[in-house]
Amino acid sequence: MTVLVTGGAGFLGSHLCARLLADGGDVVSVDNYFTSSRRNLSHILDNPRFEAMRHDVCFPLYVEVDRIYNLACPASPIHYQHDPVQTTKTSVHGAINMLGLAKRVHARILQASTSEVYGDPLVHPQDESYWGHVNPIGPRACYDEGKRCAETLFFDYHRQHRLEIKVARIFNTYGPRMHPNDGRVVSNFIVQALQQAPLTIFGDGMQTRSFCYVDDMVGALVAFMDSNAALTGPMNFGNADETTMLDLAERVLRLTGSRSKLVFAPLPVDDPKQRCPDIALAKRHLDWAPQVGLDDGLKATIAYFRHELDR
Ligand SMILES: NC(=O)c1ccc[n+]([C@@H]2O[C@H](COP(=O)([O-])OP(=O)(O)OC[C@H]3O[C@@H](n4cnc5c(N)ncnc54)[C@H](O)[C@@H]3O)[C@@H](O)[C@H]2O)c1
Repeated sequence: MTVLVTGGAGFLGSHLCARLLADGGDVVSVDNYFTSSRRNLSHILDNPRFEAMRHDVCFPLYVEVDRIYNLACPASPIHYQHDPVQTTKTSVHGAINMLGLAKRVHARILQASTSEVYGDPLVHPQDESYWGHVNPIGPRACYDEGKRCAETLFFDYHRQHRLEIKVARIFNTYGPRMHPNDGRVVSNFIVQALQQAPLTIFGDGMQTRSFCYVDDMVGALVAFMDSNAALTGPMNFGNADETTMLDLAERVLRLTGSRSKLVFAPLPVDDPKQRCPDIALAKRHLDWAPQVGLDDGLKATIAYFRHELDR
């Protein structure tokens, strides 16, 4: 089995490549290193069953593979708002090119979609039948609408060309190899705490998120890919335990032993106040649920950032 992972050098992609190699597959990573580097792959670069290709998914790709995980896309607001036109192109042209490849080589293909397709949700928690509440012209739209259009393309290729598809809606995921400066709350808090700098809390800190540890997420993606062809999704993956930003900040301070203070800043535009997955579908069909508790996952992530900052 040869497996292509686009965005393979990224945070999630690098963990997924390692897992697929451990499972015995041949793995090809495709990445343009926009938000990552080959260093994320240093632990697997020497593996003879692994290949790292520099390629932008906005352009067609011709490789012989059996399965495709399409993860290529900047995922944090700082990165995806840096060049919003390119972000939409990566989601839409990238999906078209990878679906075209899947069609040519009869590969099964999984899309890394996102909870952002629900926008600032009016129902809570969000299950897969909710169509979302998205601002189509705001600063987050390049990402949200790009991912929504990619989902449309996946389902049209499925209906029109009988492609085997899997659409995974990923909720906040964290762990080692997150980008230290991408503005995501877990990495922000940890880096600020380790540097004894103030922890920035947007709004009053009572908005909630739910955080899934990367090993749990990778397990979900692999189980979904391996599942019955009839199971197309969309399927939510994430942790259903909600945490306020204040609680997260206090945990990070406790686990790092930091003496940093908390500072409050205005909420960014279109920032959802609450975000929590309904994961009943994944539990029922894949017998999947997150296993790693927040403190344990934070400890592993803190150890990674401590090592990175000491380099
Ligand atoms: N981490 C999360 O919490 C989360 C949540 C929801 C969805 N996702 C999705 O999962 C995927 C991976 O996210 P991540 O957190 O690992 O982010 P990441 O930024 O670490 O990884 C994305 C990777 O895609 C690469 N990339 C970007 N544009 C590309 C292009 N045009 N061609 C080739 N490669 C390109 C980047 O260089 C990077 O290596 C993304 O599609 C993201 O939207 C992640």
